[in-house]
Amino acid sequence: MASPVNHPGTWESDVPGKGVFPTITPFRYTETLHFSHVGQPILNFTFNAFHVESKMPLHRECGFIRMQPETNKVAFIIAQNSGLVEIEEGELKGQQLNLQTHALARISFAKEPHVKQISRLFQLRPDGKLEQTVSMATDNQSMMQHLHITYCRSA
Ligand code: HEM
Repeated sequence: MASPVNHPGTWESDVPGKGVFPTITPFRYTETLHFSHVGQPILNFTFNAFHVESKMPLHRECGFIRMQPETNKVAFIIAQNSGLVEIEEGELKGQQLNLQTHALARISFAKEPHVKQISRLFQLRPDGKLEQTVSMATDNQSMMQHLHITYCRSA
């Protein structure tokens, strides 16, 4: 089965993803993931999320994915359009990658409430679909789910 870590490509949400958090109105969104490389053992990624009806760009993040040689340790080096920069680390276990915030910083005028911690689970399912679940803790809320979405590989 193709894995985004070994085979760069494009993944698109098959059905709209669901966004929730105790402090917001639940929403739906679509998202496209691009993975590429320039021949180094590092992946570039861009995750672009869109409004489900208007198709307007919403959340965007991009960065690099590195693996520690000879280990299953994975690091995501991430910049988000909200003004957040982040390092997430975790271990690849089978078809599952669980990442946790390792370092986080933001622009001085970032919107409140501020994110304190992010946790992501990527799971490549037996049917070939990729699933992403994102949880976060903010100034006001302990760790709760924010996003859940599944993607099909399109290129
Ligand atoms: C709200 C963080 C990804 C759409 C929020 C809030 C935070 C946040 C802190 C405010 C919560 C509150 O008011 O208590 C993040 C982080 C993300 C992420 C850290 C990635 C790791 C996304 C994605 C979408 C999205 C992919 C897709 C469209 C929204 C929407 C709201 C929201 C619609 C509510 C309206 C708003 O306050 O702007 N997010 N988010 N977020 N997020 Fe996300």
